[in-house]
Amino acid sequence: MSEHDQAPPCAVHRKDAGEPATGSPTPQSFRTSRREFIKSVIASGVAVSATGYVVVGRGGEALAQAAGTVTRLVTLNVNGRDRPVDVLPNETLIHTLRYKLGLTGTKLGCDHAECGNCTVMLDDVATYSCTTLSHAVRGRKIVTIEGIEGPNGELHPVQKAMVQELGPQCGFCTPGQVVSAVALLKHNPKPTVEEARIAMSGNLCRCGAYDHYLKAVMRAAREA
Ligand code: FES
Ligand code: FES
Repeated sequence: MSEHDQAPPCAVHRKDAGEPATGSPTPQSFRTSRREFIKSVIASGVAVSATGYVVVGRGGEALAQAAGTVTRLVTLNVNGRDRPVDVLPNETLIHTLRYKLGLTGTKLGCDHAECGNCTVMLDDVATYSCTTLSHAVRGRKIVTIEGIEGPNGELHPVQKAMVQELGPQCGFCTPGQVVSAVALLKHNPKPTVEEARIAMSGNLCRCGAYDHYLKAVMRAAREA
């Protein structure tokens, strides 16, 4: 096991180890150790956040330098346009879309293939972009929420139905919900409620608006 795999030493335990063998730590020493513990947690959190900022906010160039990796120019077909872009070997599609191509409609939630906020279509199939490598989707048809609207900017029938059924609450999950619903209706224009429920089950909603989104999918299927 490397040193990075080991749990960091707990400041509380370090402090307590120095207490006399008999009796509990004194209130003063306990306050001190708690303070040290909290400071260490905050410090480690700052370090993680800072790393995230460098990698995400700066497109990963700093990490690439540190790791000795290089970006490679690839062309991605996004929303019907060929988009040349430099990507790292381990760069995920959502990072390329959001931080290099400026397509911020696709949301980054869990970053672990659990919430569905990052859903895009790959060749008309709903796909989590947080676990898709950018260089692996060259030659594929990528559609984000920005590519869902009609040619004159009109809302897609799924988007209209979601508005009518009051789907969006905070709205954070809505782009992913829309893309999943559009992908479903492309393959199955008249789904049953159960089929729609299953198709949408990869999209979590922290506001709990599941019934609204489901009704919207069925409305869009009816009215399309
Ligand atoms: S951000 Fe991709 S599934 Fe949550
Ligand atoms: S509308 Fe808020 S998370 Fe779904």
